[in-house]
Amino acid sequence: MKNIDKITLAHSFHLNTRLSKERLINWESIEAKNENINNNYETDFYFLREYSLKTDDSIINENIIEAVENRKSLDKPTVRPLQDFELLSNLLFYSYGKRNKYQKRPVPSAGSKYPIDLYVYIFNVKDIEKGLYYYNTEKNTLQLVKVGDFRESLMNAFTQPELLQRSPFVVISVANFMRTCAKYGDRGYKLVYLDLGHISQNFYLLSSSMKLGCRAIFGFFDEKLNHMLSLGEDQDVVLSHVFGEEAQFMENILNLKRSDVLQEDNNE
Ligand SMILES: Cc1cc2nc3c(=O)[nH]c(=O)nc-3n(C[C@H](O)[C@H](O)[C@H](O)COP(=O)(O)O)c2cc1C
Repeated sequence: MKNIDKITLAHSFHLNTRLSKERLINWESIEAKNENINNNYETDFYFLREYSLKTDDSIINENIIEAVENRKSLDKPTVRPLQDFELLSNLLFYSYGKRNKYQKRPVPSAGSKYPIDLYVYIFNVKDIEKGLYYYNTEKNTLQLVKVGDFRESLMNAFTQPELLQRSPFVVISVANFMRTCAKYGDRGYKLVYLDLGHISQNFYLLSSSMKLGCRAIFGFFDEKLNHMLSLGEDQDVVLSHVFGEEAQFMENILNLKRSDVLQEDNNE
């Protein structure tokens, strides 16, 4: 940021939320001031039906190195494939679900605030109807919030609608900024996005280990998407992930790892 000669909003925010010895912030007093903020981690709303996730470890390749090696963004999705509910269940639970009685999660979170909630648009998944769902991590269920095929309206909320056209499901990450900012003040804004990055990488690695395509997409019209999800004032869509099946490229057909292909490029 040093070379920026014009003070932008981002630069100004960046500087003003720096921590230094001279400007040590008393987190406890910020938290005490905000004690009336709803710290309830699960969004409390009316839902129509509830589906318990059905995880199936056998479809996950356990080799972490391979998952990392093969990670890439979904590029050319093939014709809308029907996905198994187990695959979607694995993706949600192993990326963000609560593990055990200690409520441990697969991602760290600043202050254990877990400000991100996940919503899922389902278009083409076995054993579950089309609609908008909320992932309730407390119960490990998908709660049906709105029934219907929302593909057209969802596509209209994105700058690259073609990426969503063939996706069997799309996961929308929603931030509840005050969960984190109630404790860390404005500096908490930075933390929410760091939390989000951890979840996103889990989506990528889990997808990679189940031979599923995944692409993070930030090109959406915020207000339109917020409205579709009926979000509250403190909430905002912060990222979306589109999933699907990659068209078979030469490297897949030849069963090459991504690093093998990049290595060849480098040698040119
Ligand atoms: C936070 C974030 C936002 C992104 N937003 C978009 C997007 O709006 N549209 C898109 O086509 N790709 C998007 N991507 C994917 C990147 O373009 C992609 O990761 C990059 O080209 C590197 O390719 P790779 O992931 O296959 O290694 C996004 C990635 C991240 C991490």
